[in-house]
Amino acid sequence: MAPLSPRYGGDWNPEQWDDATVDEDIRLMQEAGVNLVSLGIFSWAFLEPREGTYDFDWIIRIMDKCAAAGIAVDLATGTASPPAWMARNHPETLPIDRDGRTLQFGSRQQFSPANPYVRRKAADLARALATAVKGHDALVMWHISNEFGNEVAESFDDISLAEFRSWLAQRYPSIDDLNDAWGTAFWSQRYSSFEEVGPPAPLPTFHNPGHLFDWRQFFSDQLLACYEAEARALREVTPDIPITTNFMGFFPTTDYWTWAEGVDIVTDDSYPDPASPFSAHQVACTGDLMRSLGGNRPFLLMEQTTNAVQWREFNTSKRPGQFHLWSLQRVGHGADGILQFQWRQSRAGSETFHSAMVPHAGTDTPLWRDVCALGEELAKLGPVLGKVPTNRIGVVLDWKAQWACEALLTRGPIDHFAQVGQWHRTWWEAGYGVDILPVDANFAPYDVVILPALVRLPNDGTDLAARVREAAAAGTQVFLAGPTGHTDGRLHAFLGGYGGPLAEAAGVFVHDHFCPAPTLTYPWSGEQVRPRLDRISGAVGTPGAYPTIEMSVAADHALGQIAQAAGLDDHWCTGDGWADLMRPHEDVEVVARWGKRGALADYQGDPAITYRAFPPAADGRQGGIWWIGTQLGAPARAAFAARAAQLARLTPTGGKMWPAGIECVERGDCVFFLNHSDREITLASVADGHTLLAGAGTLTGVDLVVPPRSGAVLQATGT
Ligand code: GAL
Repeated sequence: MAPLSPRYGGDWNPEQWDDATVDEDIRLMQEAGVNLVSLGIFSWAFLEPREGTYDFDWIIRIMDKCAAAGIAVDLATGTASPPAWMARNHPETLPIDRDGRTLQFGSRQQFSPANPYVRRKAADLARALATAVKGHDALVMWHISNEFGNEVAESFDDISLAEFRSWLAQRYPSIDDLNDAWGTAFWSQRYSSFEEVGPPAPLPTFHNPGHLFDWRQFFSDQLLACYEAEARALREVTPDIPITTNFMGFFPTTDYWTWAEGVDIVTDDSYPDPASPFSAHQVACTGDLMRSLGGNRPFLLMEQTTNAVQWREFNTSKRPGQFHLWSLQRVGHGADGILQFQWRQSRAGSETFHSAMVPHAGTDTPLWRDVCALGEELAKLGPVLGKVPTNRIGVVLDWKAQWACEALLTRGPIDHFAQVGQWHRTWWEAGYGVDILPVDANFAPYDVVILPALVRLPNDGTDLAARVREAAAAGTQVFLAGPTGHTDGRLHAFLGGYGGPLAEAAGVFVHDHFCPAPTLTYPWSGEQVRPRLDRISGAVGTPGAYPTIEMSVAADHALGQIAQAAGLDDHWCTGDGWADLMRPHEDVEVVARWGKRGALADYQGDPAITYRAFPPAADGRQGGIWWIGTQLGAPARAAFAARAAQLARLTPTGGKMWPAGIECVERGDCVFFLNHSDREITLASVADGHTLLAGAGTLTGVDLVVPPRSGAVLQATGT
């Protein structure tokens, strides 16, 4: 069952339905062009109805029907929701939350990730199931568990604590090493044995950052060990069947760079909110992340929904066309398949009102017609399979930097993922394709690389700084943007200047930080200052209470012209939340200085953004390192990105800036034009030398007309 067109289908839960409905499902799947279903995701209670007794006949019968109908199966091991007998016979498997409450049976994912019994039982089930279905015609992929860590990503039970202690004992050669790493000389936190270490449960006051960070890493490892236990069992029995587990985009809890090494294909679940104008960006950004996690290889969209979900407080519906548009957009960013949660809308249970491919009302519905239409479109997209975009811009994303943001107590809120998203969006809005890079990547092949809010540097930062220098010397524009390098890999502050070797590479000495506190009111009553009434308080100046950080850019700098050409007002160069106080080395250009208005008024004229130019590389590219000492606002990010593109001589995807609302993405010789706007847009001459492969567009000569909220895919002729 090798795919000739992208995969299309969804989670199928036939155990919720009678035989007649199952047969109808198969017929409808054929009608809709479904060629892959994820089967049995939550079926543990049906696959092992009593502890140690398996029943696989029913699922094999379903797989037989799929095979006969030409529908491939992504077979789940079913282990995401342990059955009631597990909770009754082995209550120690139930997770305990931070407040000491046991999470009971009756929902899903109610197991402690570190529990060895659950892990063994899950692997046993996977092995037995694999043995039963080995060689089945329908089996094309394994789907281990479901969204590891989504509901339960930690547990404060005794077994977890014992496992945590042995994990620490393996990580640190001695308890003194742990004491050093966590800095336990502070507040008398010193341990004399691993047995004294507890969980970072509620404590009288602030946690030790090293303790929190290691707890995070421990559970990411435990969840991964659950995955690996099942994967090993499957590989023993069906070594040729690829294995996956579904990721969840920018899920903060599990380090997907590590996880991606263990899956044969990266798959993602994604539910952007149709009510947000930024959801189109979310689709693009998570698509880029998934492609990048797999080493710039295609991925599968394992779950999205056709219309509305039911789990937000307010669940708006997708607008007409949006289901198709976002599906095509995923394909543009590298998806080789589009699957939904779920095939048939449940009749009962907590997801009754979550949309599906077959709605409650049946097939005489606009939604069903939409589902069939998407199946038809995807069937035309065979030529894109296996191809990927080639991008010149990289944005670094590092789970450990995110964990550091959560563990450290800094002077203001910092969020690495949010800054990654912001910088990605800036480039995406400007029309450029972006790869997401791990922090240990080789940056030199890229023209522009951004490292946003990398608050923690790996190890002592030397290796990262060396790669940044190498890239700049090879012609890459490197941006060290936002709060950077407060600590080394152990969350110890850099001494002798923040940023350590990275600041050295950028040519700056960062001696302090300043964070605005924009919500100052009188502490007890919430009263605001009244300058005329409050004789003394009213005379006190508090620039730090100003929410915006203003900067002035050197009058003759190219950035000023860029901002002017873009129609930005005089206050385009602003930041928020964070500021570095620094001194540049002599060979470093000061591009922006703190302005006389705004939170940094007391530092007016001091450097805010610097640039160290490197000599041109052998191929003529000129690289450099930017140090951006604040979190830039959207206009400033746009201007700096435009400057970097200018220096790197980059043009947007498709060679030009497209009309507002149009996103252009390329997969090899296939070009996607995605119209996110509410108006029909005509793209002149784009079809010259191309044919229309799929989508809602029409050609008038060589012009392409793209209706509102739709997309069209062209393929170069003669390729
Ligand atoms: C996902 C999950 C699915 C379903 C879906 C609803 O997180 O994997 O099983 O619950 O959400 O949006």
